[in-house]
Amino acid sequence: MGELSGQRALVTGASGGIGAEIARALARRGAALVLCARRGAELEELAAELRKAHGVAADVVVADLSVPGAAMELWGKATAGGPVDILVNNAGFGHFRPFGDIALERETEMLRLNIIALVELSHAFVAAHRDRPPEQAAYLMNVASIAAWQPVPHFATYAASKVFVRNFSEALHLEQKGKAVRVHCLCPGGTHTEFHATAGAGNYGKLANASMLSAADVAEQGVRAMLRGKKTLVTGVLNKLSCFFTGMSPRGVTSRASMFVMGKPRRDALPATTSSAKLPAGDKGT
Ligand SMILES: NC(=O)c1ccc[n+]([C@@H]2O[C@H](COP(=O)([O-])OP(=O)(O)OC[C@H]3O[C@@H](n4cnc5c(N)ncnc54)[C@H](OP(=O)(O)O)[C@@H]3O)[C@@H](O)[C@H]2O)c1
Repeated sequence: MGELSGQRALVTGASGGIGAEIARALARRGAALVLCARRGAELEELAAELRKAHGVAADVVVADLSVPGAAMELWGKATAGGPVDILVNNAGFGHFRPFGDIALERETEMLRLNIIALVELSHAFVAAHRDRPPEQAAYLMNVASIAAWQPVPHFATYAASKVFVRNFSEALHLEQKGKAVRVHCLCPGGTHTEFHATAGAGNYGKLANASMLSAADVAEQGVRAMLRGKKTLVTGVLNKLSCFFTGMSPRGVTSRASMFVMGKPRRDALPATTSSAKLPAGDKGT
């Protein structure tokens, strides 16, 4: 019996990267899974792997969470199979390039996914557990980023979306103190996933490259911190140091420093897709 046996977890963005590894970390502890993203084949493959490796139930819901109404539809489908005891709002993306070069549709799609869908699912989760006895913990993990520590030129809207996620989650953590819902904000630094290809990024400075972790490491650290009831976790020693000094430095200095660390946007590699999903014909994301 794992420590999460009898619990059901909903993980968004579970078709790859950090989300898939969080699903694996939860399944290792015995949780049943509801996996959500747009790529159904990848989700089905992961669900089969988790059932076989850990003997847990694993359901798949294919959804584009940037579409208005999709998050609540997902919540309805996930809870139709039983209560959701753990919610991981992980799905997210960003574009690494000058703001004016990004198609407005891609920006609004990102804000709906990174912020609106996350708030909608968090709201449904908190409401569902309002009367749950405090000793029966229900866990909510929201995935922000160390980009939430300062303005990040060329990741302007993405970094600002993660400021929202961090502030929202940390406020909710305190609001829920003494109640059943334990809110955790996972703040990864650079992690080896498809995120960078999706963002049209990867041409980072040496420091950013040196601090990169694996998705499995980030996920395991995040799940442990969530289960310990920790408010916020920055993954990796270099990232922790960087956030500590950023917090003590003037914002003008830290946003310039982030420009230096992140390097220049790769104009040769502007993505024609958001993650794996195809954009409408003719839209090359500018
Ligand atoms: N990698 C990093 O360096 C890093 C650093 C800090 C924070 N983060 C955060 O970590 C989280 C996970 O990112 P990752 O690094 O694992 O990137 P990733 O490998 O690109 O994974 C992103 C996940 O989100 C899903 N997704 C994207 N758009 C979606 C949509 N419209 N509807 C539903 N699902 C969608 C993707 O699946 P589909 O394509 O199948 O939909 C995928 O499963 C994100 O919130 C990201 O901002 C990443």
